[in-house]
Amino acid sequence: MKIIMLGAPGAGKGTQAKLIAEKYGIPHISTGDIFRANIKAGTDLGKEAKEYMDKGQLVPDELTVRILLDRVLADDCADGYVLDGFPRTIPQAEVLDTEVAKLGDKIDLAIDVNVPDENIIRRMSGRRACPKCGATYHVEHIPPKKEGICDACGAELVLRDDDKPETVKKRLEVYHKQTQPLIDYYSRLNILRTVDGTKDMKDVFADIEKLLGE
Ligand code: AP5
Repeated sequence: MKIIMLGAPGAGKGTQAKLIAEKYGIPHISTGDIFRANIKAGTDLGKEAKEYMDKGQLVPDELTVRILLDRVLADDCADGYVLDGFPRTIPQAEVLDTEVAKLGDKIDLAIDVNVPDENIIRRMSGRRACPKCGATYHVEHIPPKKEGICDACGAELVLRDDDKPETVKKRLEVYHKQTQPLIDYYSRLNILRTVDGTKDMKDVFADIEKLLGE
């Protein structure tokens, strides 16, 4: 099962992608997480990506496509994967389709987690992320057991640099301009499904399970 998660920044793509990966036993691949791991490790890729991410812009396609293809061609992806944050532009989607077709395969489903802009800014300012293991929390909706500390690994939680309100506004602008056209792209391919991302996260997942045939 090869699944793409679509949706605005903060719509809950990552939250749902992790649940799908866990339930269906497929890898969760987030280009944002790959970039953040590189930033943390101080690699050249991380240094380059950070310049764009901190401004709320997209990392250039050539860089993003290379790291994504390396990852999806790995052995553990043979039976499927859930992509979170990729593709984000029409050229990225076209490269992905071409490469998957070379393997005699296709993307099965693109799931759009739909949340209006006004809900997004509130969500993002409450998100806390673990810089060590990647777990995410929300100060109201999924608080950690001990304030500011990751339940899974005990590290101190942080507000992501790009979750500051000015950067979130820029990310939303970029989303509407560059990523939203993918809704039409996958709709034309007849693989687009939309879920209401304003529901409670368990209910959003229940809707996704129905789409995936439980
Ligand atoms: P990335 O990390 O992909 O960020 P994003 O798409 O902006 O998405 P987020 O991770 O911010 O949000 P999400 O939808 O996963 O929401 P989450 O589940 O965390 O990318 C970061 C940057 O990297 C980009 O801006 C770009 O620069 C670069 N980049 C990455 N991929 C790229 C690509 N392909 N091309 C070019 N550049 C690329 O949820 C958000 C919060 O809400 C959490 O606190 C969560 O707990 C809470 N929440 C989730 N669901 C619910 C719910 N139903 N109700 C209430 N709260 C909820």
